[in-house]
Amino acid sequence: MRRKVAMRFGVLTGGGDCPGLNAVIRAIVRKGIDVHGDVLFGFRDGWRGVLESDCDELTIESTRGILPRGGTILGTSRTNPYKLDDGPAFVRDTLSDLELDGLIAIGGEDTLGAAHRLHQDGIPVLGVPKTIDNDLNGTDVTFGFDTALQVATEAIDRLHTTAESHHRILVVEVMGRHAGWIALHSGVAGGADVILIPERPFDLDQVCGLLDRRRARGRRFSIVVVAEGAVPIESEAAHALGETDEFGHPRLGGIGHWLQGEIESRTGFETRTTVLGHIQRGGTPTAMDRVLATRFGLAAIDAAHDARWGMMPALQGTRIELIALAEAVGELRTVPLADYETFSALFG
Ligand code: F6P
Repeated sequence: MRRKVAMRFGVLTGGGDCPGLNAVIRAIVRKGIDVHGDVLFGFRDGWRGVLESDCDELTIESTRGILPRGGTILGTSRTNPYKLDDGPAFVRDTLSDLELDGLIAIGGEDTLGAAHRLHQDGIPVLGVPKTIDNDLNGTDVTFGFDTALQVATEAIDRLHTTAESHHRILVVEVMGRHAGWIALHSGVAGGADVILIPERPFDLDQVCGLLDRRRARGRRFSIVVVAEGAVPIESEAAHALGETDEFGHPRLGGIGHWLQGEIESRTGFETRTTVLGHIQRGGTPTAMDRVLATRFGLAAIDAAHDARWGMMPALQGTRIELIALAEAVGELRTVPLADYETFSALFG
């Protein structure tokens, strides 16, 4: 039997935004207030809001109409509480000043990594997994992935017709820092001729060989989908733009344009590049992401109410299960090479 006592929780969204964040917030607020009688606060801009005690009360009224909206009404940042001396002490102070029973942190590997450390330091925090990259361990899927996949697939469909008209090779660079889920699934759904993912360093000669073979078979255009984190075999690191965030991750980008130059000079085929970038993260979530995000939000507020700190809801098969944050942040869930090899029968 769930405790009926009203409790007070803070909610934050951290890291890169993701379609479905607002659906999680809405579910937490609706069930928290209507079913549990809780009081909820939304911290602005991820851990920054918690460190600076910058928040507003979340009500049914203030969260009305947000279900189909992309982004996050709370704002987000890549602030890392462990970058600051006494960061955990500030978090603890905020909880005690606002008389909060705990925090619900909605985020990806970095936000959940910080949540896990805070929990180990004795602070009552639980997590909700989000990322368009779909690379969090412990959950079969993260919300945001389906939306990004739809956006990337639609882009590939559109690029197909113009590639065909101009007899060009079109390179499409999609997000995916360490995992090629968006590249592989959008590439397969869009019928790409070559798909390059971070998990499998690629051989440029082989890529050009596939493109040449396709022309020789009379097909006069090609689509190449490349994840931003894909690496040629002769390089040691992904193409980066020179900046790093508070968690030490370099800003990736540039592999698409680099490929364009290499492909064009090696094959002689006219080549163009489209970088989808943040278009994949913006805008309204798909129905699938809204439902998954809502299920995570409902499970998260129940877990908070039951003081299941250090845990997070995860999709396992068709069920939502509570798993330890430690399981999610230990290592990333990357594309199994066997899956990639299976689809490679369709390349070229
Ligand atoms: O974390 C998801 C992600 O989409 C990565 O694939 C990408 O490298 C990163 O966010 C870029 O985020 P931003 O431009 O907001 O730093």
